[in-house]
Amino acid sequence: MENYYRNTWIEIDLDNIKHNINEIKEKCSKDKYLFAVIKGDAYGHGLKQVSDIVVESSADGCAVATLDEALLVKKYHKDLKTLVLGIIPDEQYQTACDNDITLTIATKESAQLLASLNLNKELLIHIKVNTGMNRIGFIDIDEIKEAITILEQNKKINIEGIFTHFATAEDYDKEDYLMMQLNRFKEVVTNLNYDFKYIHCTNSASLLKLHEHIDFTTANRCGIVLYCALEDKVLYQYDIKPTFKLKSKIAQVQVYEKGKKIGYSIRYTTEKDNEIIATIPIGYADGFARAHTLSKVKVKEQYGTIVGSICMDQLMIRFDDMVHINDEVILIDGYDKELNVFTRCKQAQTITHEIFTRFGNRVPKLYYKNKELVEIDNALLKK
Ligand SMILES: Cc1ncc(COP(=O)(O)O)c(C=O)c1O
Repeated sequence: MENYYRNTWIEIDLDNIKHNINEIKEKCSKDKYLFAVIKGDAYGHGLKQVSDIVVESSADGCAVATLDEALLVKKYHKDLKTLVLGIIPDEQYQTACDNDITLTIATKESAQLLASLNLNKELLIHIKVNTGMNRIGFIDIDEIKEAITILEQNKKINIEGIFTHFATAEDYDKEDYLMMQLNRFKEVVTNLNYDFKYIHCTNSASLLKLHEHIDFTTANRCGIVLYCALEDKVLYQYDIKPTFKLKSKIAQVQVYEKGKKIGYSIRYTTEKDNEIIATIPIGYADGFARAHTLSKVKVKEQYGTIVGSICMDQLMIRFDDMVHINDEVILIDGYDKELNVFTRCKQAQTITHEIFTRFGNRVPKLYYKNKELVEIDNALLKK
């Protein structure tokens, strides 16, 4: 097993990811295909390791954002259906085709280019429809029809899917917009009257909310719920388990008198004599944002408070009771309300997706199956 040389790490529970995929498939996508979204390094959980789990799970395929991500998945799982949700550079179409990667087509120009290629095997594509997200995709039905006619001229191209993406699936106060997009997508699909194998529009929030009400689709995509980080009022109906913990160990402990200044810009001053301040080796360069200052962390049963400015590589914590060098410190834990990713994202005024994807190469990932450590990924040392 690989090693790591700094006392800060992420623990990923692979069993819980698999359980969550199976739960969503069973409860929300039983009669439809399910694509597990594993872009952004599987929402910070590790693309390779999560793709292994997708293969073991009841999902029917995976979706990523870029061709590089798709190539990594295919390197390990040649037969795992892999859809690239984003636009790839024109000159990479042949690479996608060679590796049996399913592409998204969002413009007539790219359809023309694709159709002109001398492909040596079947290329699978999904058409992206812009129904209101206004990011990528066709807007006009006639333009989609023209693109289909163009693509059909190349017998190696298989237009097997069509999809859209919702802008407000998580916003309960913007449901009208969600329904407008859904209705528009239905209108496009009905009007095209084309025999697509995969018709899909949901992400996690819309899948949980709407799966019983969408009858014209054949597939679903979901990401964040698989990592137990969708905050939604319907979530209690599902058995979704935490997948991600962030931990560190105390590197130094000091007991200071009242009035001691702590850290950059001396933003914290000890409030009483005998104040216990511990330092741990994690900082904003690891993905733990400065916005988490004054938030809680936990050592054994005791919560401490992060004080002063969070540094690039270290941060300081105030404790009431004595702690010791090498004590384990928990910073993110889905089982703990103070430390879960929802609390962390309120502190940082962001969304859970961003909390997970911020952790870079410098934080090794430890993978667990059946509560046993099965793999250590120390990406920094692979460079
Ligand atoms: C096109 C597309 N589909 C699906 C998803 C998955 O969304 P979620 O993680 O909310 O399930 C995303 C995520 O951003 C996306 O961009």
